[in-house]
Amino acid sequence: MQTIKLMSGENLPLEMHKTKIVRKISLIPIEERLKCIQEAGNNSFLLKNKDVFLDMLTDSGVNAMSDRQQSALFLADDTYGGSQSFFKLNETTKKIFGKEFLVPAHQGRACENILCRLLVKPGNVVIMNFHFTTTKAHVVLNEGIVEQLIIDEGVKSKSDFPFKGNMDIKKLEECINKYGPDKISFVRMEAGTNLIGGQPFSLQNLKEVNEVCKKYKILLVLDASLLTDNLYFMKVREENCKNMSIEEITRAISDLCDIIYFSARKLGCARGGAIITNNKELFRKMQEITVLFEGFITYGGMSIMEIEAINVGLQESMDFEMINQTPIFIEFLVNEFTKNGIPAITPPGGLGAHLDAKEFCKHIPQSQFPAASLIAAIYIVAGARGMERGTVSEDRNLDGTEHFADMELVRLAVPKRVFSLSHLKFVADRINWLYKNRELIGGLEWVEEPKVLRFFLGKLKAVNDWQEKLVKKFKEDFGDSL
Ligand code: F0G
Repeated sequence: MQTIKLMSGENLPLEMHKTKIVRKISLIPIEERLKCIQEAGNNSFLLKNKDVFLDMLTDSGVNAMSDRQQSALFLADDTYGGSQSFFKLNETTKKIFGKEFLVPAHQGRACENILCRLLVKPGNVVIMNFHFTTTKAHVVLNEGIVEQLIIDEGVKSKSDFPFKGNMDIKKLEECINKYGPDKISFVRMEAGTNLIGGQPFSLQNLKEVNEVCKKYKILLVLDASLLTDNLYFMKVREENCKNMSIEEITRAISDLCDIIYFSARKLGCARGGAIITNNKELFRKMQEITVLFEGFITYGGMSIMEIEAINVGLQESMDFEMINQTPIFIEFLVNEFTKNGIPAITPPGGLGAHLDAKEFCKHIPQSQFPAASLIAAIYIVAGARGMERGTVSEDRNLDGTEHFADMELVRLAVPKRVFSLSHLKFVADRINWLYKNRELIGGLEWVEEPKVLRFFLGKLKAVNDWQEKLVKKFKEDFGDSL
């Protein structure tokens, strides 16, 4: 992506790629959209993709591959053991991250399973800048405790602080001293911190976290699933990184961490996952878990074709013009929102644009899930599916009480190289209409509520007929327009 100045003086985000393969999508009539979301239990995960116009659920596994990645698929050295494709990927991760050992796994949460089985003992603590749903679930499954020590600014929805994903260093030391260093399984830093709106940490902050970890001899683990967004923000927002190349910043990050893992559904624009480290002893132990849960140590549950695609995808992720597309598009979308007074998370982060549903739907109590309600309303008016990142995405407390999320976010993911600017303008316009008619949005209540990771499979219904009323108003304003 390049930002180009137009005659008017306005800046235009200009793509530095062209489309070679396309997929047709359709926008079904609003009455059908209403039916679809109700049948899906107001859970955007349960919509059928054929009924979705803009799939803004996630970037996971849906980033557009490059022609080089597509062609690499055919180079797959398919075999159970000792695949050449694996060794190729190992060479690439060594070169990019400077870490010798590679443990492949079928996706990011599989890496978390391996790490948590190995490192989390009952009653132990994992300290994070912020939790991610699957990470927390794996820590808890192994009877560990999660402490998240994000800086206070991190959970403020409106801010101009450039690194809201930073860990609070003072709280980190206090936390280690509270439990005792031998009780801390590891410290986990998440790049492009997902649940607070794709917000980055700074290289400086990671250095400080590293110093504390070294002092207390605690492992520092990086979740690099959203690394490319974090790299972009370090490059454009952090003074020390302005003159560094993306490769140099990546290496500087990697050198501070003992273990790096990632979902290759995100980093590498393919599918799969991996853990990398220079710690031979831990590597050997991880391999033992891999053969039990993933598959053999040279494919780890992945298709070999995907290993080839990750290999190329990782190399392409070192290209600033490639990794800047998503954050620049997100900035465009967030600017569209804020100029219309629509509450969005600022500064714009990576992964997607995030609406603040607590503010957008002030009239809906948290017990009626404002973020999930807004997701349903956005699908109804725009055919776009976002993802709930609020209370529905939290599981209940152990005593069965509701665990209200710090932030009620609606995430509109912008997968890499998938959408056009007109798609974004359309969705911004429909959300603008929705904001002007926000009093029509009502709450939701549970119909089916799973115990673990309930947001994936849970079903909810509207507390009254607000969705039908929303459709009626839409028809009054837009007539026959889809
Ligand atoms: N860590 C982070 C920061 C993630 O964003 C994800 C997935 C994972 C770990 C787990 O990886 O899905 O390959 O098992 N995030 C997806 C999302 C689900 O939509 O944000 P996975």
